[in-house]
Amino acid sequence: MAAQILDGKVLSAQIRDKVAERVCALKEQGVNPGLAVILVGNDPASEIYVRNKEKGCAETGILSRTIRMDAETSQEDLEAEIGKLNADPAIHGILVQLPLPAHLDEQAALAKILPEKDVDGFHLVNAGHLMTGTEGVVACTPKGALYMIRSTGTELSGKEAVVIGRSNIVGKPMAMLLLQQNCTVTVCHSRTRNLAEHTRRADILVAAVGKPGFVTADMVKPGAIVIDVGINRVDGKVCGDVDFESVKEKAGWITPVPGGVGKMTIAMLLSNTAEAAERTLSRE
Ligand code: GUN
Repeated sequence: MAAQILDGKVLSAQIRDKVAERVCALKEQGVNPGLAVILVGNDPASEIYVRNKEKGCAETGILSRTIRMDAETSQEDLEAEIGKLNADPAIHGILVQLPLPAHLDEQAALAKILPEKDVDGFHLVNAGHLMTGTEGVVACTPKGALYMIRSTGTELSGKEAVVIGRSNIVGKPMAMLLLQQNCTVTVCHSRTRNLAEHTRRADILVAAVGKPGFVTADMVKPGAIVIDVGINRVDGKVCGDVDFESVKEKAGWITPVPGGVGKMTIAMLLSNTAEAAERTLSRE
């Protein structure tokens, strides 16, 4: 039987609607949530992300500010800009669009963002919170992917979850979130031997590899929840890391690309921004 589609359009709209309500409530209390995005250079994929973020802010009533910096920007100038946004009370969330040009130190830049304004959840303090299961900001893509997994209504406790990819942005935080749900988690990567032996055990399979069509039907357990985090471009067309056409005949649930996890990332970014603004109220 063909898999049920986990529709990112439908699921992200649920989150955006709730964010819009929370933004209204914040405004009634005199707080106008603001998100600043720093974009260094003009990477075409980043331009698309940034445009979608601006659109999401407009839809939910969040103030959006995009700071465009020259591709040759120095580390010092980038960090000075972050410092200004840290000090700006109109800005509750700061996002530095990645990847940065090669001459810039990403980790050093991310470390300059105040942890409470780090709506990406990339600051070491927030990564540490996730690791220890304490309250912090959770990275948007894994948070959105977990929302999709939970929307299936499947009991996650004790399930086998396999994450392909070990990036700081997706793979590692995804593994932590699934561990918090009491899954038995395996993280696979480019040096994993006999990858398919791992993936075929997975009740929940998350692909964050960056290779088009990498996960094929023979790698998937019948009935599995398959989450495709990949955004690849092949002949001008966007496709994921999962060979959708074959895998959809075997999985129980599957996310499409486009229209899957990508939409959830933006929705969770808006949600994290509303949350950051709410925290300023509870601190007063
Ligand atoms: N580039 C690709 N995905 C992301 C993301 O989630 N956050 C940031 N800051 N940059 C990205």
